[in-house]
Amino acid sequence: MEDNLMNNNFEGEVYHPAQAIIDEAHIKDYEYLYKMSIDNPEKFWSERAEEFYWSKKWDKVLDDSNPPFYQWFTNAKTNIVYNCIDRHLKTWRRNKLALIWEGEGGDVKTYSYFSLNREVIKFANVLKSMGVQKGDIVTIYMPRIPELIFAMLACAKIGAAHSVVYGGFSVDALAGRIEDAESKVLITADGGWLRGSIVPLKGIVDEAIARQGTIEHVVVVKRTGQEVHMAPGRDYYYHDLCELPVMNQNCETEMVDSEDMLFILYTSGTTGKPKGIVHTHGGYMVYTATTLKYVFDLKDEDRYWCAADPGWITGHSYIVYGPLLNGATSFMYEGAPNFPYPNRWWKMIEKYGISILYTAPTAIRGLMRFGNAWANRHDLSSLRLLGSVGEPINPEAWKWYFNVIGRGKCPIMDTWWQTETGGFMITPIPITPLKPGSATKPFFGIDVDVVDNDGKPVPAGEEGNLVIKKPWPAMLRTIYKDPERYVSQYWSTFKNMYQAGDSARKDKDGYIWVIGRLDDVIKVSGYRLGTAEIESALVSHNAVAEAAVIGLPHEVRGNTIHAYVLLRAGIDGNDALAEDLKKHVGHEIGPIAKPEKITFVDVLPKTRSGKIMRRLLKARALGLPEGDKSTLEE
Ligand code: PRX
Repeated sequence: MEDNLMNNNFEGEVYHPAQAIIDEAHIKDYEYLYKMSIDNPEKFWSERAEEFYWSKKWDKVLDDSNPPFYQWFTNAKTNIVYNCIDRHLKTWRRNKLALIWEGEGGDVKTYSYFSLNREVIKFANVLKSMGVQKGDIVTIYMPRIPELIFAMLACAKIGAAHSVVYGGFSVDALAGRIEDAESKVLITADGGWLRGSIVPLKGIVDEAIARQGTIEHVVVVKRTGQEVHMAPGRDYYYHDLCELPVMNQNCETEMVDSEDMLFILYTSGTTGKPKGIVHTHGGYMVYTATTLKYVFDLKDEDRYWCAADPGWITGHSYIVYGPLLNGATSFMYEGAPNFPYPNRWWKMIEKYGISILYTAPTAIRGLMRFGNAWANRHDLSSLRLLGSVGEPINPEAWKWYFNVIGRGKCPIMDTWWQTETGGFMITPIPITPLKPGSATKPFFGIDVDVVDNDGKPVPAGEEGNLVIKKPWPAMLRTIYKDPERYVSQYWSTFKNMYQAGDSARKDKDGYIWVIGRLDDVIKVSGYRLGTAEIESALVSHNAVAEAAVIGLPHEVRGNTIHAYVLLRAGIDGNDALAEDLKKHVGHEIGPIAKPEKITFVDVLPKTRSGKIMRRLLKARALGLPEGDKSTLEE
């Protein structure tokens, strides 16, 4: 592949962006601005914040009087939706496309900022008519259709918070999240299209609601049109509600406090149930807008495509909020990348003239499998920047993406960040010399380090814990209903430092190489799953007494799940039961969590205090040295 490098900007393993890219970049001097942003973050962030509408300005940029409960732009009033939509309606952008959407079957819809506003108003009126108020949390469980975006914005517009549950999750995952958020209103669809089949979202919703007791109303968007069960008095079709004239009346955007909750998003941690990560209006707004503008060098002429799902943080920050805050034109696609053929993405890039593509290494590896011919058949010359997120990108995938998709002329922005960080943390900007596989340098205002277990910086080239040493505007504010866990999980291991949970090393040029999770979080196709959730799904099957789950490397998906299962007395393991257990996990959590392999065992390795030694299972599975076994129970 190296031989194919189509440009001469590579010096050893370092790619130097072409002068034309540097000339048009928003930021032309990283070192100077970075130093300024670290010396005086409050100045840096207040200048960025000035670009937005606030009905009342802040008293303080950063309130650090009660760490780690930091607050940004205290006592200011705004609403992220005002800055995403209302603000643009007073300018020429009123007629600009905000969203171009293509369904899996090829149906296309487009929305200008003006029509986006109309759609959000309708949804906001529907929510109000169901009694949703400021501070309530509305759960959204939808396929990748425009109404998902409208629903999120409608919640924020009226000062309610949203909790989006990824449409690939299933019954137990959905029920647990609704329960924790105590949502009374759920927005869903009759189904969504994936690989030519219908994902039966409404059926999953009915099962989930039967397991918990808070939902009073369900709004159902018609997408696939098949017959679904509608509970009288509880379930309403969205299009029926929209028929009511009152739904089309104007709805003002509610001004809220900068620190009011914008959304919660559940993510997996080391132990227990997924945690609701809390993000707020003001700081998140300033941060997502700024990071997107500087990293992807967003311009009015761009057609920007973040190919993630809005149900994950990448979608929240960089499909919904970041692009709209910048007045950008975004593209969204409903279905699978290789449907009906492996050229689907490349065809759409050509058709819509996409100039920025942001996706995950797993998608790149998945499409790389089909060879170069599918991509080569299409005119991809509109692309000017590429992006990657979710896990480390292996140099082979990086080079394929760079050469075959970017045609050797598009720098790759490898962005390291997390649900908790709200936006990009370690990332190149277009002018940064790139090293394939490294997320390069911290973003402005972000103070990153790699430290040993005592919190001391490790020498260049050595592996350690990735930490962040200063608060930043889009940082999570807490874990919903569990502030202690917020403190213990992120701020207790190292004094005054945010612990990311990743291992990393810094090279002699200060480039950061993220290696992977240090905890029991497994990244499968870039999706974040906790061993605890999958184990508890397995144990909820009546044949299973105990289970341990590990992630093992996989060529395309990064990792896959392997489960070790101890059956109840009198039950014998066989292939049929293994299949049944896989199906059970798929039904409870979602297809992404299905174990690749199930091994029936008579005993699980545990420490004397009863903790499963997953590390040992992993070493054995990989044929690696088993390491320290002194704590192993006999
Ligand atoms: O391990 C890191 C990995 O993804 C984790 C965060 O997962 P999640 O909260 O689901 O957010 C993913 C999308 C922002 C991190 O702790 N990760 C994310 N981006 C990268 C990465 N690892 C290496 N390189 C990246 N660019």
